[in-house]
Amino acid sequence: MKNYRRVEISFRDVYPALSTTYASHGMYYYPARFIPQVVRFFIEKYTKEGDWLLDPFAGSGTVGVEALITNRNALCLDLNPIIEPLLEAKTYLPKSPPDISQYRQLNNAPIFKPKWSRIEEWYPPEFLEVLEKLWGIYYENPHPLTLIALFKTSRRFSLADDQVPKIFRSKKKRIEIEKMLKSENPYKLILDFFEKSVRNVYKASAEFKTYYKGGTCIARGHIDIVNYKLDREVNHLITSPPYGMAHEYIRSFKLELAWLGYDDKQIRKLSKLEIPYRHEKTIPPIEIHSKTYERYYNIIEKKNPKLVRVYEKYFTSVLGVFERLGSRITDYLAIFVGNASFSGIDPPYDIIFTEHLEEEGFEHVITYVDVIKSRKLFRNRKNASPSGIETEHLVVLKAKR
Ligand SMILES: C[S@@+](CC[C@H](N)C(=O)[O-])C[C@H]1O[C@@H](n2cnc3c(N)ncnc32)[C@H](O)[C@@H]1O
Repeated sequence: MKNYRRVEISFRDVYPALSTTYASHGMYYYPARFIPQVVRFFIEKYTKEGDWLLDPFAGSGTVGVEALITNRNALCLDLNPIIEPLLEAKTYLPKSPPDISQYRQLNNAPIFKPKWSRIEEWYPPEFLEVLEKLWGIYYENPHPLTLIALFKTSRRFSLADDQVPKIFRSKKKRIEIEKMLKSENPYKLILDFFEKSVRNVYKASAEFKTYYKGGTCIARGHIDIVNYKLDREVNHLITSPPYGMAHEYIRSFKLELAWLGYDDKQIRKLSKLEIPYRHEKTIPPIEIHSKTYERYYNIIEKKNPKLVRVYEKYFTSVLGVFERLGSRITDYLAIFVGNASFSGIDPPYDIIFTEHLEEEGFEHVITYVDVIKSRKLFRNRKNASPSGIETEHLVVLKAKR
């Protein structure tokens, strides 16, 4: 393993005045979201006003929001379709709070019925009936901020635990729902929560507006980046790819997708493209040039021969993406990645990425190592680092042109 230039940093301490949820960053929950300070640091140090930034694993769109706050442009791509409404709301410049007066009259409200066959398993019928009306009203008069408030409301009154990223039924949530069901007027309960959510979402949006400097932000969901060809050049790529097996994003967003009108088949199709769970056959083969990759391949294979397939699929997918997009980048490539494990074994992702991309013509500039203090990345013991020290790494490479 070569000695790469590494420096320790605390991205939070570089910007002590910024909270991780400032502007519109905290508008809606997203698993393993970038902290905006990482993106800001990269932007300020390596880019200039007017540059184009690409995030091929854009998730909740942190790069898009930071780009507009610093007068850069961003192209934000993700498999998860939620990126589009999320970024539309997070970069919206409101003139006034959304008008929600129509939601106060449910008697003759239109009804929106999700097509997802399992929706009823996630709601008590009393709540589902009210939510279907709220969504019916929404679709007659959509508004980017109201949509986010409806997402929040639809999570809150579902049996899914709203404290965890997964769609997961907890005992605590069941007890909460039972208590809410005892209320005399479930409609009022839901409406109060919805109105409060609209106020909070508007507050975040208005805060974003005070930071907004300019630029363009394009968001595209439904993108299978593993088989995607970018038809233009960009100045920089900054991203945080999936962390090994840490999350199943599409699965986590089933409720939101259902309320957006997705059916079982569409949801399944998206799930099947997710890294690293997708089928080998859907991943264009590449040769991985990394001694560290090979070393960990052997270690994992000895411990768990089945798991090594996931390891291989993960790195073939992610490195293939960087390799193919690499030819479209004129300046810097920055990858932010943590130390998620494959069944207790921690491959050094940053070194594997660096070794391979150096062979592909990139020059390693520096790796920033951030020791995580407060962020709980992985609740699952299986994913916890065996060393107990969690670090995240920002690898910066320069395109050789
Ligand atoms: C660590 S998250 C990115 C979070 C993002 N940096 C943010 O601030 O919200 C990784 C993302 O990779 C996406 N992803 C997984 N497989 C993908 C694929 N085949 N094509 C495109 N995106 C994919 C997931 O949907 C997820 O949003």
